[in-house]
Amino acid sequence: MIKEVSFSFTIFDSIDDLSNEDKILMLESEKALETAYAKYSGFNVGASLYLDNGEIMSANNQENMALPSSLCAERVLLYYCKANFPKSNVKKMAISVKSSIEVIDKPISPCGSCRQVMLEYERMQNNNIEILLKGEKGQVYLIKSVSDLLPLAFNTNAINRH
Ligand code: THU
Repeated sequence: MIKEVSFSFTIFDSIDDLSNEDKILMLESEKALETAYAKYSGFNVGASLYLDNGEIMSANNQENMALPSSLCAERVLLYYCKANFPKSNVKKMAISVKSSIEVIDKPISPCGSCRQVMLEYERMQNNNIEILLKGEKGQVYLIKSVSDLLPLAFNTNAINRH
């Protein structure tokens, strides 16, 4: 038996084609990437989210001289959010990138570790988290759920949770 997995997502030609709510979030993530601490890669990432009460929270990637100690924008943001507002649900995340090496003219998707972390919070809250992605310019992708980005994700009950 062969099982096929596929998903669909929306492509907008520009940030101006987004709903007002989505455009605000995307712009917040663009603002956030400007203050990323990304001196080793020159790759700035900004992430912003809407909580279910409409509040916006933003963060960016934080690098370190000991390179593996660096952390992606998505996880800096989600860990801060869940550390301080553990009961709040995340409705939507916008992620923007900018590089000192070249102009990025298409959206870049979150790394595997971030997808794993995003997915756990999505599952916990029983509500999908939408994802908006954008490069420095050009199209915007709107993905309906983190689960779309991580088929066959690691997930088991066979871990001692006590
Ligand atoms: N980075 C993110 O912030 N998010 C991702 O999903 C992938 C990569 C950061 C980590 C590092 O600071 C820089 O981008 C280059 O990998």
